[in-house]
Amino acid sequence: MKISIIGTGYVGLTTGACLAERGHAVLCVDQDREKIALLRRGKMPIFEPGLESLVKGNVRAGRLSFGTSNKDAVAHGKVIFMCVATPPRPDGSADLSAIEAVARDIAGHLKEFRLVAEKSTVPVATGSRVKDVISKYRPQHVDFEVASNPEFLREGCAIEDTMNPDRIVIGVESKRAETILREVYKPFKAPVLVTDIMSAELIKHASNAFLAMKISFANAVGQICELAGANVVEVTRGVGMDRRIGPGFLNAGIGYGGSCFPKDVAAFEAISRELGYDFSLLREVQRVNEKARDLFVKKVERELWIVKDKTIAALGLSFKANTDDIRESVAIKIIRMLVEKGAKVRAYDPQALAKARASMNTIAYCRSPYEAARGADAALVLTDWEEFRALDFGRLKKVMAHPTILDGRNLLDPGKMRELGFTYRSIGRP
Ligand SMILES: NC(=O)c1ccc[n+]([C@@H]2O[C@H](COP(=O)([O-])OP(=O)(O)OC[C@H]3O[C@@H](n4cnc5c(N)ncnc54)[C@H](O)[C@@H]3O)[C@@H](O)[C@H]2O)c1
Repeated sequence: MKISIIGTGYVGLTTGACLAERGHAVLCVDQDREKIALLRRGKMPIFEPGLESLVKGNVRAGRLSFGTSNKDAVAHGKVIFMCVATPPRPDGSADLSAIEAVARDIAGHLKEFRLVAEKSTVPVATGSRVKDVISKYRPQHVDFEVASNPEFLREGCAIEDTMNPDRIVIGVESKRAETILREVYKPFKAPVLVTDIMSAELIKHASNAFLAMKISFANAVGQICELAGANVVEVTRGVGMDRRIGPGFLNAGIGYGGSCFPKDVAAFEAISRELGYDFSLLREVQRVNEKARDLFVKKVERELWIVKDKTIAALGLSFKANTDDIRESVAIKIIRMLVEKGAKVRAYDPQALAKARASMNTIAYCRSPYEAARGADAALVLTDWEEFRALDFGRLKKVMAHPTILDGRNLLDPGKMRELGFTYRSIGRP
């Protein structure tokens, strides 16, 4: 089927490449000309494992192409996926201006029937707004439909998640829209859940809010463990073995970040309030999350006493492993807090150096963890990269001024670290 993607970011590019891989003819467009120029030269604007070869293979096979014109997107695809960003506004509600702009653009270029599917994460009832906008600005004789098809991929394993999703949620108003979207996903082996549009929109917000809640819950339990002298890793392992709960998203640490959880929890809270329900539980999820990073900074201060003029190695900048995405990265937030207190931070990340450098110029960027640790009074593990688990700790210790590691991700083995002669602190572990 001919499919168009408007918004070629993390979601749009991954979705486009995976749909092409499954045999569809996909046109990905974006208003960012530089991004499209890069892609046309075979260069990836983001780091995502497996993405480059998938994109290149499908471009070569003639199933995937790139453009900058929404008009071309409307002409090409029978289905048009909206994959533009929906960032937070200062009050937490979702900024839907890109969605509205794209809806107006689509309407202006409609010549024959199109199914417009929201893949961006949007508050409940956005679909009916999109429908109103397209109805208003389209040539009146042209038919169209709106659908919701929320995306659940995780950055870092986006290809695997898109190729083998847990479920495909399709929110539609008609059999026709359902049939078209079922055809799109026919080559994917995954259960398809068909709902109305608003329920599909809510499934996404509720899922992300629930996952964020699990993380905050684990962080609160981590604090209890720390106060009582228990081990949060063992506690959450025991809790997660209960099939009703499941083991995922129960790691205590410095809290969740990234472009989705913080904004989606805030947007879900905001739309609930707008609808007349005080979802105070979500505010507590946010509060516990913010507290997790404050407590970690306090831990650093407890260890170093005075942070001012101390050299601190930051291992990790991306918001999680296997991505270069630094949006709402807790690592960056913690680094900023320490810089504010006068620390000299030397940072290393396997993929996110370029993006971090472009957004923060108050720290030193290093090409290896050992270079970052040179002369450091403490090294902080801020992102859960596997690379940090496999460091040459003997070498690390040698280059540091003082062998102290504060592990914000509970990535390393406390016993082993002490054996190696490090002062080692982590979250909720004795
Ligand atoms: N990143 C994730 O892990 C993830 C997962 C699931 C859902 N989502 C949701 O998907 C949506 C997109 O997220 P993302 O991370 O891919 O964002 P992104 O910022 O990486 O990509 C959005 C793209 O849309 C483009 N764009 C904006 N306005 C446009 C317009 N009018 N016409 C054409 N292009 C336009 C931007 O230039 C950008 O390249 C968001 O709603 C997000 O919440 C993201």
